[in-house]
Parts: sequence; structure tokens; C-alpha cells
Amino acid sequence: MAVKWLVTLGIAVAILASTIHQIPEGHVGIYYRGGALLTLVTSPGFHVKMPLLTAVKIVQTTLHTDEVKNIPCGTSGGTMIYFDKIEVVNILNRDAVIETVRNYTVNYDRPLIFDKIHHEVNQFCSLHTLQEVYIDLFSSIDDHLKRTLQNDLNVLAPGLFVSSIRVTKPKIPEIIRRNYETMEQEKTQYMIVTAHQKVVEKEAETDRHRAVIEAEKVAQVAKIQYEQKILSKESEKRIAEIEAEIHLARERALADAQKYHSDTEAESNKLKLTPEYLQLAMYQALAQNTKIYFGNSIPNMFINTNEMLSSTTEFPS
Ligand SMILES: *[C@@H]1O[C@H](CO)[C@@H](O)[C@H](O)[C@H]1NC(C)=O
Repeated sequence: MAVKWLVTLGIAVAILASTIHQIPEGHVGIYYRGGALLTLVTSPGFHVKMPLLTAVKIVQTTLHTDEVKNIPCGTSGGTMIYFDKIEVVNILNRDAVIETVRNYTVNYDRPLIFDKIHHEVNQFCSLHTLQEVYIDLFSSIDDHLKRTLQNDLNVLAPGLFVSSIRVTKPKIPEIIRRNYETMEQEKTQYMIVTAHQKVVEKEAETDRHRAVIEAEKVAQVAKIQYEQKILSKESEKRIAEIEAEIHLARERALADAQKYHSDTEAESNKLKLTPEYLQLAMYQALAQNTKIYFGNSIPNMFINTNEMLSSTTEFPS
């Protein structure tokens, strides 16, 4: 009897345990009954469900990372290389959980992310050479994958977003890797040599520049000095001209003055040559003589004059 009770109690506890379940933070609960997905979505916390008939599945609705490992990549040249790991950080919108799970099951990330990444990497590799995949375009692979993946998801599963993709450097065959290393060393060497060359060229350039500037300076100074000399010679010439002009003007003025003087003297002399003046002059001249000679011929000497002057002056006998 007691055993019977215990069994009943055990069954009851088991049923209760399968009825009460909990949903962790950052997740939602979805329910299947009889294999069909219900539209119910529960938030984090404790919940009850119908025992045995209903099954619960937990779906993450926060940012999480899917790691896709060991992805083969056949390059256009035929070399097979492997990406060790590609990480896809993605998030599923809470409102799209039911539909996404209905379309792609709870493991929706297998077809939507893992398979897609394989596919996209294959596409990318078959279009590019080893050099491009391994070196030239490597830094753009993650962006390329993110873009193409998101474009597909926008159509296939709206509500699933890729936030970022990280790609590790692919593994390539050892011999090729060694070639790359050698090449890298040579490239580095070449860069060093080129840089040195540039420095030398730059120095030569600087020297040349300096010399040109120096020469230009000298030329300019010479030009200025030449111009100064010309200017001073010109002003000397001008001064000489002015002096000559002054001299000429002075001479001319002097000559004019002399001419004027003699002209006016002649003029006044002409005016003075009146009979009266002449007579006066004669008397003055006579009076100044200390000796006066008289003779027969003397009166004749004055005859003409006498006649001339007789009208005004009495000539003494
Ligand atoms: C589910 O599939 C239907 C039809 O295939 C599609 O129209 C819908 O966008 C899909 N929804 C999600 C969230 O995947």
C-alpha cells in the first residue's frame, strides 16, 4: 500500500517537473504540441505547460556568435586552401522567432548561416586567385561576406541580422607559404632600398633648390646694384645738364644785361648829342686844358662851331 502511494507521488512530481519550466534571460520559449508549432512565445522566467503533450524549445534573441569551422576554398588557379574559422555575429529579432523557426526549424542557423557561409566563400574563392584571396583582397573578405549574407537573409529570413563577420587567415600549402615569406622579405628589402633612394633624391633636390635660391639671390642683388648705378649715373648726368643750363642762363642773362647797358648808353649818348651838349663838352674839354695855343688857324677851327652855336651863346673874343 505504502509503495503504491510512493509510486503515485513520484509520478505526480515527475509530471509537475515537466509542467514547470524556466526560460533564461536573453531567450524566449516556443512550444510544440503534437509536433505543431504554437504561436505562443514566452519571456524569461518560470512558466507552466501541459504535461507530456507540449514540448518547449528555447531560442536566443540576443547577439551571439556562430563559429563556422574549416571552410574549404578552391581558388581560381586551382589551389585548395582552408579558412580555419569564420565567426558570424548575428541576432534574431524576437518578433520573427515563430516564423523563422516555422520556416527553418529551431536550428535555423544551419541553413541560413553555416551553409550560406560555405557557399559564399566558395563563390568568392572561385572568382579570385590565391594571391588575391590570401593577400590583396583578404581584408575585404569579411565585408564582402557580410554584405552578400545579409542580402540573402533579407529575402529568406527577414528578422535575422548579421552584425559582423571575422575571418581568420586561411591555411595555405607549406611551400606556397614559404614562397610568400621570401617574397615578403624581398618586398621589404625593396621598400627599404626605395625609401633610401627617395631620401637621397630628396637631399639632392634640396641641395639643388638651395643653390637655385642662392643664385637667384645673387642675381637679384646684382640687378638691384646695376639699377642703382644706372640711377646714380643718370642723376649725375641730369645734375650736369642742370648746371650747364644754369650756367648758360647766367651767361645769357649777363650778355643780355651788357647788351642792354650798352644799348641804353648808346641811346642816352645819342640823346646827349645835341648841339648844346656838344658845346658844353667842348668847353669842358677846353677848360681842362692847361695850355691853350692860339694862332692864325685857331679861330678857323671854331668857325663852324661858332656859327652853329651863335644863336644861343656869346662866344668870347
Ligand atoms: C518564411 O517563409 C515565407 C515563405 O517561404 C516567407 O514569405 C517569409 O518571409 C519567411 N519568414 C521568415 C521570418 O523567415
